[in-house]
Amino acid sequence: MQEVKIKHLTALSDLSLPDIFSILENSHFYFQNQTKIPNYHTKTIAHLFFEDSTRTRVSFELAAKRLDIISTSMDLSSSSLNKGESIIDTIETLKALNVDILTLRHKSDELIYQIKDLGISIVNSGSGTTGHPTQALLDASVIMQEFTKIKDKKILICGDINNSRVAASNIELLKRLGAKLMLSSIEELKDEYQEFKNYSLDEVITECDVAMFLRVQHERHKSKFDIHDYNKKFGLNSDRLNRMKDDAIFMHPGPINWGVELDEKIKSHPKSRVLKQVTMGLFTRVAVLDWILKDNK
Ligand code: CP
Repeated sequence: MQEVKIKHLTALSDLSLPDIFSILENSHFYFQNQTKIPNYHTKTIAHLFFEDSTRTRVSFELAAKRLDIISTSMDLSSSSLNKGESIIDTIETLKALNVDILTLRHKSDELIYQIKDLGISIVNSGSGTTGHPTQALLDASVIMQEFTKIKDKKILICGDINNSRVAASNIELLKRLGAKLMLSSIEELKDEYQEFKNYSLDEVITECDVAMFLRVQHERHKSKFDIHDYNKKFGLNSDRLNRMKDDAIFMHPGPINWGVELDEKIKSHPKSRVLKQVTMGLFTRVAVLDWILKDNK
Protein backbone atom coordinates (compact mmCIF):
# COMPACT_ATOMS: atom_id res chain seq x y z
CA MET A 1 0.00 0.00 0.00
CA GLN A 2 1.24 3.49 -0.86
CA GLU A 3 2.26 5.46 2.24
CA VAL A 4 0.27 8.71 2.69
CA LYS A 5 2.43 11.71 3.57
CA ILE A 6 1.16 13.62 6.59
CA LYS A 7 0.51 17.28 5.78
CA HIS A 8 1.19 20.05 8.26
CA LEU A 9 0.55 23.78 8.37
CA THR A 10 3.16 24.77 10.93
CA ALA A 11 4.32 27.73 8.84
CA LEU A 12 3.47 29.28 5.49
CA SER A 13 6.60 27.62 4.08
CA ASP A 14 4.63 24.33 4.28
CA LEU A 15 2.51 25.70 1.41
CA SER A 16 3.53 26.06 -2.24
CA LEU A 17 2.12 29.00 -4.17
CA PRO A 18 -0.46 26.70 -5.86
CA ASP A 19 -1.45 25.40 -2.36
CA ILE A 20 -1.96 29.00 -1.20
CA PHE A 21 -4.11 29.93 -4.19
CA SER A 22 -6.09 26.71 -3.84
CA ILE A 23 -6.85 27.45 -0.14
CA LEU A 24 -7.80 31.06 -0.95
CA GLU A 25 -10.07 29.99 -3.82
CA ASN A 26 -11.67 27.23 -1.73
CA SER A 27 -12.28 29.54 1.23
CA HIS A 28 -14.30 31.76 -1.09
CA PHE A 29 -16.02 28.78 -2.74
CA TYR A 30 -17.06 27.24 0.61
CA PHE A 31 -18.23 30.67 1.85
CA GLN A 32 -20.53 30.89 -1.18
CA ASN A 33 -21.44 27.18 -1.39
CA GLN A 34 -21.76 25.95 2.16
CA THR A 35 -23.68 22.83 1.15
CA LYS A 36 -20.65 21.71 -0.90
CA ILE A 37 -18.30 21.47 2.08
CA PRO A 38 -16.95 17.88 2.01
CA ASN A 39 -17.52 15.22 4.66
CA TYR A 40 -14.66 13.71 6.69
CA HIS A 41 -16.68 11.80 9.29
CA THR A 42 -13.92 9.19 9.82
CA LYS A 43 -11.38 11.85 10.86
CA THR A 44 -10.65 13.31 14.29
CA ILE A 45 -9.22 16.67 15.37
CA ALA A 46 -8.07 17.95 18.77
CA HIS A 47 -7.61 21.61 19.67
CA LEU A 48 -4.88 22.44 22.16
CA PHE A 49 -4.72 26.12 23.12
CA PHE A 50 -2.17 27.15 25.76
CA GLU A 51 -2.97 30.84 25.15
CA ASP A 52 -6.37 32.54 25.11
CA SER A 53 -8.35 32.67 21.89
CA THR A 54 -11.89 33.26 20.69
CA ARG A 55 -11.76 33.61 16.90
CA THR A 56 -9.15 31.00 16.04
CA ARG A 57 -10.33 28.37 18.48
CA VAL A 58 -14.06 28.71 17.81
CA SER A 59 -13.59 28.93 14.04
CA PHE A 60 -11.45 25.77 14.02
CA GLU A 61 -14.09 24.01 16.15
CA LEU A 62 -16.87 25.17 13.82
CA ALA A 63 -14.83 24.41 10.68
CA ALA A 64 -14.33 20.86 11.93
CA LYS A 65 -18.08 20.51 12.57
CA ARG A 66 -18.87 21.83 9.07
CA LEU A 67 -16.54 19.14 7.67
CA ASP A 68 -18.16 16.49 9.90
CA ILE A 69 -14.80 15.81 11.59
CA ILE A 70 -14.96 14.41 15.15
CA SER A 71 -13.67 17.33 17.18
CA THR A 72 -12.48 17.78 20.75
CA SER A 73 -11.09 20.82 22.57
CA MET A 74 -8.79 19.91 25.42
CA ASP A 75 -9.57 21.70 28.68
CA LEU A 76 -6.08 22.56 29.86
CA SER A 77 -7.28 23.45 33.36
CA SER A 78 -8.06 19.77 34.00
CA SER A 79 -5.73 17.81 31.71
CA SER A 80 -2.93 15.51 32.82
CA LEU A 81 -0.45 18.19 31.73
CA ASN A 82 -1.19 19.54 35.23
CA LYS A 83 0.12 16.24 36.66
CA GLY A 84 3.41 16.77 34.87
CA GLU A 85 2.69 14.89 31.65
CA SER A 86 4.79 16.35 28.84
CA ILE A 87 3.36 17.88 25.68
CA ILE A 88 5.04 15.14 23.61
CA ASP A 89 3.42 12.40 25.77
CA THR A 90 0.10 14.27 25.48
CA ILE A 91 0.32 14.30 21.68
CA GLU A 92 1.32 10.62 21.58
CA THR A 93 -1.73 9.90 23.76
CA LEU A 94 -3.96 11.83 21.34
CA LYS A 95 -2.43 9.86 18.45
CA ALA A 96 -3.29 6.61 20.25
CA LEU A 97 -6.86 7.94 20.46
CA ASN A 98 -6.87 8.13 16.63
CA VAL A 99 -6.54 11.91 16.45
CA ASP A 100 -5.51 12.86 12.90
CA ILE A 101 -5.04 16.63 13.29
CA LEU A 102 -3.89 18.81 16.17
CA THR A 103 -4.40 22.58 16.22
CA LEU A 104 -1.92 24.20 18.59
CA ARG A 105 -1.54 27.66 20.09
CA HIS A 106 1.51 28.14 22.32
CA LYS A 107 3.82 30.95 23.40
CA SER A 108 6.87 29.09 22.06
CA ASP A 109 8.20 29.87 18.59
CA GLU A 110 9.85 26.43 18.29
CA LEU A 111 7.44 23.88 19.82
CA ILE A 112 5.32 23.72 16.67
CA TYR A 113 8.33 22.39 14.69
CA GLN A 114 9.38 19.93 17.41
CA ILE A 115 6.15 17.93 17.19
CA LYS A 116 6.02 17.33 13.45
CA ASP A 117 7.28 13.73 13.59
CA LEU A 118 4.66 12.30 15.95
CA GLY A 119 2.33 11.02 13.23
CA ILE A 120 -0.34 13.73 13.59
CA SER A 121 -0.96 16.66 11.22
CA ILE A 122 -0.06 19.84 13.07
CA VAL A 123 -1.81 23.15 12.39
CA ASN A 124 -0.29 26.29 13.86
CA SER A 125 -2.99 28.36 15.56
CA GLY A 126 -0.50 30.95 16.82
CA SER A 127 3.10 30.35 17.88
CA GLY A 128 5.13 32.87 19.89
CA THR A 129 5.73 36.10 18.02
CA THR A 130 6.58 34.47 14.70
CA GLY A 131 3.62 32.55 13.26
CA HIS A 132 -0.14 32.69 12.74
CA PRO A 133 -0.43 31.30 9.21
CA THR A 134 -4.21 30.77 9.12
CA GLN A 135 -4.74 34.43 10.14
CA ALA A 136 -2.60 35.54 7.20
CA LEU A 137 -4.53 33.22 4.87
CA LEU A 138 -7.91 34.52 6.03
CA ASP A 139 -6.68 38.12 5.71
CA ALA A 140 -5.50 37.38 2.17
CA SER A 141 -8.87 35.79 1.43
CA VAL A 142 -10.66 39.01 2.50
CA ILE A 143 -8.31 41.17 0.39
CA MET A 144 -8.75 38.88 -2.65
CA GLN A 145 -12.53 39.14 -2.35
CA GLU A 146 -12.26 42.90 -2.22
CA PHE A 147 -9.78 43.53 -5.04
CA THR A 148 -9.68 40.16 -6.95
CA LYS A 149 -5.86 40.17 -6.68
CA ILE A 150 -3.16 41.04 -4.17
CA LYS A 151 -0.26 41.64 -6.56
CA ASP A 152 0.76 45.33 -6.55
CA LYS A 153 -1.85 46.31 -3.95
CA LYS A 154 -0.49 48.77 -1.41
CA ILE A 155 -0.94 47.18 1.99
CA LEU A 156 -0.06 49.03 5.15
CA ILE A 157 0.63 47.11 8.37
CA CYS A 158 0.59 49.43 11.39
CA GLY A 159 1.40 49.14 15.08
CA ASP A 160 3.17 46.66 17.34
CA ILE A 161 4.85 44.91 14.40
CA ASN A 162 7.93 43.41 16.09
CA ASN A 163 5.81 41.52 18.65
CA SER A 164 3.03 40.45 16.34
CA ARG A 165 2.80 36.94 14.90
CA VAL A 166 -0.07 38.21 12.74
CA ALA A 167 2.31 40.77 11.22
CA ALA A 168 5.03 38.14 10.76
CA SER A 169 2.77 35.77 8.83
CA ASN A 170 1.09 38.56 6.86
CA ILE A 171 4.41 40.06 5.80
CA GLU A 172 5.62 36.63 4.63
CA LEU A 173 2.42 35.78 2.76
CA LEU A 174 1.72 39.19 1.23
CA LYS A 175 5.33 39.41 -0.01
CA ARG A 176 4.93 36.02 -1.71
CA LEU A 177 1.70 37.23 -3.30
CA GLY A 178 3.39 40.36 -4.70
CA ALA A 179 1.81 43.07 -2.54
CA LYS A 180 3.53 46.43 -2.08
CA LEU A 181 4.01 46.40 1.69
CA MET A 182 4.32 49.52 3.81
CA LEU A 183 5.11 49.20 7.50
CA SER A 184 4.48 51.70 10.27
CA SER A 185 5.99 50.31 13.47
CA ILE A 186 5.93 51.70 17.01
CA GLU A 187 9.63 50.93 17.34
CA GLU A 188 12.65 50.43 15.12
CA LEU A 189 11.92 47.44 12.90
CA LYS A 190 13.65 44.23 13.97
CA ASP A 191 16.43 42.68 11.85
CA GLU A 192 14.06 40.43 9.83
CA TYR A 193 12.27 43.52 8.52
CA GLN A 194 15.28 45.66 7.61
CA GLU A 195 14.33 45.59 3.91
CA PHE A 196 11.32 47.80 4.78
CA LYS A 197 11.17 51.50 5.54
CA ASN A 198 9.39 52.44 8.77
CA TYR A 199 6.81 55.04 7.64
CA SER A 200 4.78 57.34 9.82
CA LEU A 201 1.08 56.43 9.56
CA ASP A 202 0.14 59.87 8.23
CA GLU A 203 2.70 59.53 5.42
CA VAL A 204 0.99 56.48 3.92
CA ILE A 205 -2.64 56.40 5.06
CA THR A 206 -3.70 58.39 1.96
CA GLU A 207 -2.18 55.99 -0.57
CA CYS A 208 -2.76 52.48 0.81
CA ASP A 209 -5.47 50.16 -0.52
CA VAL A 210 -5.59 48.20 2.73
CA ALA A 211 -4.69 49.48 6.19
CA MET A 212 -4.14 46.62 8.60
CA PHE A 213 -3.99 47.56 12.29
CA LEU A 214 -2.50 45.22 14.89
CA ARG A 215 -3.45 44.50 18.48
CA VAL A 216 -0.98 45.98 20.97
CA GLN A 217 0.62 42.90 22.52
CA HIS A 218 0.48 44.22 26.10
CA GLU A 219 1.39 40.76 27.44
CA ARG A 220 4.66 40.75 25.46
CA HIS A 221 5.87 44.23 26.55
CA LYS A 222 8.10 44.41 29.61
CA SER A 223 7.08 47.97 30.52
CA LYS A 224 3.74 49.74 30.08
CA PHE A 225 3.57 52.44 27.46
CA ASP A 226 1.35 55.46 26.94
CA ILE A 227 -1.75 54.25 25.09
CA HIS A 228 -2.94 57.82 24.36
CA ASP A 229 0.36 58.58 22.66
CA TYR A 230 0.04 55.28 20.77
CA ASN A 231 -3.46 56.19 19.60
CA LYS A 232 -2.29 59.64 18.46
CA LYS A 233 0.53 58.21 16.35
CA PHE A 234 -0.71 54.76 15.29
CA GLY A 235 -4.48 54.69 15.81
CA LEU A 236 -7.20 54.89 13.16
CA ASN A 237 -9.66 57.71 13.80
CA SER A 238 -12.32 59.50 11.71
CA ASP A 239 -9.83 62.06 10.45
CA ARG A 240 -7.39 59.46 9.12
CA LEU A 241 -10.25 57.38 7.77
CA ASN A 242 -11.52 60.35 5.76
CA ARG A 243 -8.10 60.69 4.17
CA MET A 244 -8.04 57.09 2.91
CA LYS A 245 -8.74 56.36 -0.77
CA ASP A 246 -12.43 55.91 -1.67
CA ASP A 247 -12.14 52.16 -2.25
CA ALA A 248 -9.60 51.48 0.52
CA ILE A 249 -10.49 49.23 3.46
CA PHE A 250 -9.20 48.72 6.99
CA MET A 251 -8.67 45.49 8.87
CA HIS A 252 -7.75 44.29 12.38
CA PRO A 253 -7.24 40.64 13.40
CA GLY A 254 -8.89 41.18 16.78
CA PRO A 255 -9.30 41.33 19.66
CA ILE A 256 -9.36 45.14 19.38
CA ASN A 257 -8.25 47.53 22.11
CA TRP A 258 -10.86 50.20 21.33
CA GLY A 259 -9.54 53.72 21.70
CA VAL A 260 -6.00 52.44 21.17
CA GLU A 261 -5.64 50.84 17.70
CA LEU A 262 -9.10 51.91 16.46
CA ASP A 263 -11.45 54.62 17.71
CA GLU A 264 -14.79 53.18 18.77
CA LYS A 265 -16.65 55.75 16.62
CA ILE A 266 -15.49 53.96 13.43
CA LYS A 267 -16.67 50.52 14.58
CA SER A 268 -19.44 50.25 11.97
CA HIS A 269 -17.76 52.27 9.21
CA PRO A 270 -18.31 50.87 5.69
CA LYS A 271 -14.54 50.61 5.19
CA SER A 272 -14.25 48.15 8.08
CA ARG A 273 -13.64 44.50 7.18
CA VAL A 274 -13.08 43.41 10.80
CA LEU A 275 -16.13 41.13 11.04
CA LYS A 276 -15.63 39.92 7.48
CA GLN A 277 -12.21 38.70 8.67
CA VAL A 278 -13.90 36.69 11.40
CA THR A 279 -16.36 35.15 8.92
CA MET A 280 -13.63 34.28 6.44
CA GLY A 281 -11.66 32.81 9.35
CA LEU A 282 -14.25 30.05 9.47
CA PHE A 283 -14.23 29.28 5.73
CA THR A 284 -10.45 29.64 5.40
CA ARG A 285 -10.05 27.08 8.18
CA VAL A 286 -12.54 24.80 6.43
CA ALA A 287 -10.31 25.11 3.34
CA VAL A 288 -7.13 24.46 5.36
CA LEU A 289 -8.51 21.30 7.01
CA ASP A 290 -9.80 20.14 3.61
CA TRP A 291 -6.30 20.75 2.12
CA ILE A 292 -4.77 18.61 4.89
CA LEU A 293 -7.25 15.73 4.58
CA LYS A 294 -8.24 15.60 0.92
CA ASP A 295 -5.43 13.23 -0.23
CA ASN A 296 -6.01 10.94 2.75
CA LYS A 297 -9.78 10.36 2.96
N1 CP B 1 -6.99 36.98 15.62
C1 CP B 1 -6.92 36.03 16.60
O1 CP B 1 -6.02 35.17 16.58
O2 CP B 1 -7.90 36.12 17.53
P1 CP B 1 -8.06 35.13 18.77
O3 CP B 1 -6.88 35.38 19.70
O4 CP B 1 -9.39 35.50 19.38
O5 CP B 1 -8.02 33.73 18.24
